[in-house]
Amino acid sequence: MDSGEARIVGPGANSIGTAGVQFGLGGRIAALVIVFALLAEIAISAPTIANFRNAWLRDRLAAANTAALVFAAAPADMVPEDLARSILSSVGAHLIVLKTKETRRLLAASDMPPKIDEAFDLRTAGLMESITAAFRCLFAPEGRILNLIGPAPMGAEYIEIAIDEAPLRKAMTDYSVTMLLLTLMISGAAAGLALFALRRMVLAPVRRLTDSITAFGAEPGNATLIIEPSGASHEIGVAERALATMQLSLLRELSRAKHLAALGLAVAKINHDLRNILTSAQLLSDRMAALSDPLGRSLAPRLVATLDRAISYCQSTLNYGKAAERDPVFARLALAPLIDEVMATLTPRGEGVTRLINEAPRDVEIRADQEHLFRILLNIIRNAVDALDSAGPRPGIGAIVRVRAQRENGGVLVEIADSGPGVPARARARLFEAFQGGARPGGVGLGLAIASDLVRTHGGELSLSDEPAPELGGALFRIVLPASGARGHNGNSRSP
Ligand SMILES: Nc1ncnc2c1ncn2[C@@H]1O[C@H](COP(=O)(O)OP(=O)(O)OP(=O)(O)O)[C@@H](O)[C@H]1O
Ligand SMILES: [Mg+2]
Repeated sequence: MDSGEARIVGPGANSIGTAGVQFGLGGRIAALVIVFALLAEIAISAPTIANFRNAWLRDRLAAANTAALVFAAAPADMVPEDLARSILSSVGAHLIVLKTKETRRLLAASDMPPKIDEAFDLRTAGLMESITAAFRCLFAPEGRILNLIGPAPMGAEYIEIAIDEAPLRKAMTDYSVTMLLLTLMISGAAAGLALFALRRMVLAPVRRLTDSITAFGAEPGNATLIIEPSGASHEIGVAERALATMQLSLLRELSRAKHLAALGLAVAKINHDLRNILTSAQLLSDRMAALSDPLGRSLAPRLVATLDRAISYCQSTLNYGKAAERDPVFARLALAPLIDEVMATLTPRGEGVTRLINEAPRDVEIRADQEHLFRILLNIIRNAVDALDSAGPRPGIGAIVRVRAQRENGGVLVEIADSGPGVPARARARLFEAFQGGARPGGVGLGLAIASDLVRTHGGELSLSDEPAPELGGALFRIVLPASGARGHNGNSRSP
């Protein structure tokens, strides 16, 4: 027996894991063992009881055979009536008949010939017949008389006796009760042994596992609560090793996350102050435009633009670090006007260069948070405009960003396509991860990460098509929003 001595060190490691257990495994298995033993007992009781009955009847026939020998030895009708009666009562029979080839001899009879309720021939009875006869005997009404036929002595054909069933029935009942009690005792003992073995081999190690899980779960940063595997080779031993590995990697991950959070906080603070310093520098450089020195005047716009970019970089990082977005507030809104609004915001930038085309049907409505959806579309369309501004459109096509929408599977599919150069390969791999997907100069690499997060809050998905946009040949982004739009990953689904 392998008791699997896994050890959990540290406070609170004991007795927590079993707190919620009501009807434990041990009790359940002991109850099952008893039930199974009783079922087995019922299954074997039918033939056993039938055999017991046949043996009892054979004893009666043996006694009747002896009596028949006595009667046969005496000359005909010379046995005194008293003796005949006491022989009959010692056999327990009302009459004994000996059948030879020629005659059928009534050896003795009580005053009244009895009324026969059932006949049973021991010479021919098979197992099924014996079983049904035994159950009839157990459940039949009281006072029945059984006519029993069996092999006879002295070359006679058969011997036949009529007996009361009551003593047979009592013997059978006593036998059944004894068997039942015996089975209960044996199965109780087996259940006790099974419980003992189960406790030692399974329950104790499992309890150690649950204790460790609960204790470590309550204090996941505490390395002393990691389970020490017992080294056992059975399933629980394997589970202990797997748990130890998992707890260790969780511990490492947690400490890494803690360091990163601290680092993030520090970066956010530096960013904040840096942004303020840059803003003051921008104010100063604005005034350079009024200088009389022509060189200073010509440098001023470039300085302002550079500072502008630096400030917006700081601002984006700060916004992203501002922890979670506010919870979405869902409402039904028309999609096409919202796209118009986004495009109007971007028009001054792409004026005269990029055509922004809104082909979303006017009747498509969507259940979403208006501000979130605006930001999603703004980020994606602005990327397309940026790409067209810097790399220009494909030859033969003007600079175009086109938004289409359609109902799909009860939800809405929005496609944003452009005629630009497409997303560069180096940006594709981690396109939707913060600070990872950026591949354009001056970009922070946050726009698509934010958009993708917001789409997921709506229960939808943002993806970049592997194929270039049809007709336009540039990048094609798809937003799939489900019908309700209310399955947020933060579990929020408020309606105004
Ligand atoms: N329509 C597009 N065509 C070509 N490249 C694109 C397009 N959309 C995105 N990209 C590429 O994906 C990168 C990631 O975009 P993302 O919006 O996440 O960051 P960004 O635009 O660089 O910075 P910002 O955080 O300011 O938006 C971009 O740098 C650009 O290289
Ligand atoms: Mg962007």
